[in-house]
Amino acid sequence: MASASPLPPIKELLPSLKGSPVTRYQSDFTRDIFVKQIHSHNDYWRDVPLYTALSYGVQSVEADVWHFEDDEVLYVGHHEAALGPQRTLASLYIDPLVQILSQANPENKFTSEQKKPNGVFDTWSSATLYLFIDVKTKGNETWPYVENALQPLLEKGWLTQFNGTDIVPGPVTVIGTGNTPAEYVSSLSTRSFFVDGPLANLTDSTPYTLNPIASGSLAQLIGVDGADQIDIKGLNESQLGLLNETVTKAHSMGIMTRLWDVPWWPVEKRNQVWSQILAVGSDFLNADDLELASEFLS
Ligand SMILES: *[C@@H]1O[C@H](CO)[C@@H](O)[C@H](O)[C@H]1NC(C)=O
Ligand SMILES: *[C@@H]1O[C@H](CO)[C@@H](O)[C@H](O)[C@H]1NC(C)=O
Ligand SMILES: *[C@@H]1O[C@H](CO)[C@@H](O)[C@H](O)[C@H]1NC(C)=O
Ligand SMILES: *[C@@H]1O[C@H](CO)[C@@H](O)[C@H](O)[C@H]1NC(C)=O
Ligand SMILES: *[C@@H]1O[C@H](CO)[C@@H](O)[C@H](O)[C@H]1NC(C)=O
Repeated sequence: MASASPLPPIKELLPSLKGSPVTRYQSDFTRDIFVKQIHSHNDYWRDVPLYTALSYGVQSVEADVWHFEDDEVLYVGHHEAALGPQRTLASLYIDPLVQILSQANPENKFTSEQKKPNGVFDTWSSATLYLFIDVKTKGNETWPYVENALQPLLEKGWLTQFNGTDIVPGPVTVIGTGNTPAEYVSSLSTRSFFVDGPLANLTDSTPYTLNPIASGSLAQLIGVDGADQIDIKGLNESQLGLLNETVTKAHSMGIMTRLWDVPWWPVEKRNQVWSQILAVGSDFLNADDLELASEFLS
């Protein structure tokens, strides 16, 4: 048997192998990105929605959707003037997710025995991505189009399900918020979407199987009129106690928590309040600046 030519020194070999199809890691779309419990508030405002969030390991994104009469398309934007024909729920979120998840779940002889699909994060493939759909137009009229838009993900088996008794996790978990018709959603015996729970008002009619996450205004929870009324030194003892109580109650019901109306400025106040939010164990940091939030959590 002829011997192969000897290998060059490894330092010379490495650059020549970089990017080679033989050595390139197969599922490297989100390689080296660690999952962080950050909620990308108004995600569609970023230059590149969804992808920017994923590049920071953000586990939760939010799209505001609008429906108009005699139109099956759902448009994405903060208010009417920001809407355009190209920016739709399908083009900004559903289609890219189908592409990313198709790449993360190749069908071949190596994967044929795999029971559960991989999620979008390569470093934690069982982590779900929360997709908040904030319904801006009438809930009952808009929701059927949301269900329609979710079909490509549903058909592939990539949505977290409620099977009648329990949650069966999948790569993407859809959480309706805003005008989402909560009564209608809770009336379904099985479904592939959930509702954002009222963090301030959790009761027996808001089980985790309907509301896996609950959200609330921090200012409202601690009884002040706005985040600007929170002291520069952060929450005082009684405010922290109220926050702790609310988060603890949600957790005892199996519900994760997200707070909005959180101060961003000045820095001293922001850092103090964020630390307090994390200290009581709240799950998602609501963020407009993903880089900042991601650094805070590292
Ligand atoms: C939506 O429909 C449900 C029943 O399907 C009804 O109970 C509810 O009042 C309706 N909501 C609105 C805002 O029309
Ligand atoms: C629902 O899912 C749970 C958890 O995976 C499982 O134990 C239960 O049997 C499932 N129920 C149905 C009706 O499939
Ligand atoms: C909680 O419920 C009370 C009484 O039903 C209501 O006054 C209050 O606005 C609710 N708070 C939130 C945040 O929904
Ligand atoms: C915390 O601040 C609130 C609102 O300003 C106030 O009502 C409360 O008495 C303060 N509690 C303590 C322990 O300082
Ligand atoms: C929250 O409350 C629990 C007990 O109810 C306590 O053990 C814990 O230290 C509190 N956390 C904070 C940050 O105050």
